[in-house]
Amino acid sequence: MTQIRSTVSIDSRLEVDDEDALAFDVLDGFARAFKELPPKYFYDAEGSRLFEEICKQPEYYPTRTERGILERHAEEIVALTSASELVELGSGVPTKTRLLLDAMAAAGTLDRYVPFDVSEGVVRASAEQLMEEYDGLRVHGIIGDYERHLDAVPPSEGSRIVVFLGGTIGNFLPGSRRRFLRSIARELGPDDRLLLGTDLVKDPAVLHAAYNDAAGVTAAFNLNVLAVLNRELAADFDLSAFEHVAFFDTEREWIEMRLRSRCEQRVSIERLETVVAFGAGEELRTELSAKFTHKRISADAAASGMRVERFFTDPDESFALSLCAPADGSAPATLESLKARTATAGSRRQRCLGGQLG
Ligand SMILES: C[S@@+](CC[C@H](N)C(=O)[O-])C[C@H]1O[C@@H](n2cnc3c(N)ncnc32)[C@H](O)[C@@H]1O
Repeated sequence: MTQIRSTVSIDSRLEVDDEDALAFDVLDGFARAFKELPPKYFYDAEGSRLFEEICKQPEYYPTRTERGILERHAEEIVALTSASELVELGSGVPTKTRLLLDAMAAAGTLDRYVPFDVSEGVVRASAEQLMEEYDGLRVHGIIGDYERHLDAVPPSEGSRIVVFLGGTIGNFLPGSRRRFLRSIARELGPDDRLLLGTDLVKDPAVLHAAYNDAAGVTAAFNLNVLAVLNRELAADFDLSAFEHVAFFDTEREWIEMRLRSRCEQRVSIERLETVVAFGAGEELRTELSAKFTHKRISADAAASGMRVERFFTDPDESFALSLCAPADGSAPATLESLKARTATAGSRRQRCLGGQLG
């Protein structure tokens, strides 16, 4: 069998202005009455490694549950979209992605994969790996911030699925979540789809355990953001002077991760020529992780110019994958109607061939 050469290109949008963005976010976040930092700064090489470790913790159910849903439904998702391109936002290490790429390869439609992540290491590593694994695959990696650089996604060359997995959409506050979903919806053609992974509202004890694993990996991941500030902004955070806090806010239905100052302290951030004071017990919010219901996902989709065409979940209804179509796109197809359509097309082709031969 002849092998078709796979190709890789990488577009990096972070080099020019990433340090400024971090500086502004830190100045802005630390000046607030309740200090906070955007979660994207977790993901340096060490943060990405720690996130992979979190995914292996027995308490952290989202990754294996989402993988299970994809194992059951990837083929159907691909059949529903006939996509030749997979654009993955916050792609990370593309373990679950392979299930979709395999289904696209099996359907004979796979052409291009576009991983988009703020972490340079994961984009480069996954681009190299997948190029070797999939014959003829074109990989176009984007190193950037999907809140600022969505325009880096190349124009579609066929129908595409944009995937946003891992429940990462839950990291947005509700208003910016809808704004972000709207910016994705604007990029979808009538035949394109967004596949959105969301963690669902559940027993608070299960949620609490997932973000407070016994091995302390989530705590190390949380504290690592201070190491990022030390390195990037010449700050002098003492990581042992902060502790990891994660709890479920039952009213807002989101997990909050925070870092609590163990004592009164002053931290110098040399590159910003500033000193930040923390009171004993003062907390810095580092991540929100909103939990969803089917209703909340449908409402977000509707407010963002999309509709939920299919809703896939696991037997415990712990996690969900929603296939979203542009609101004014064509009516949703069912797997049965797709099979019927394929069968009709097949017999029509046969009749036509029969006619030619006869
Ligand atoms: C929770 S992890 C999920 C990774 C993977 N999609 C999964 O499901 O396992 C979030 C990923 O999004 C990336 N990320 C976070 N904020 C980002 C941003 N603003 N722009 C681009 N990537 C971002 C991180 O580097 C990380 O790889």
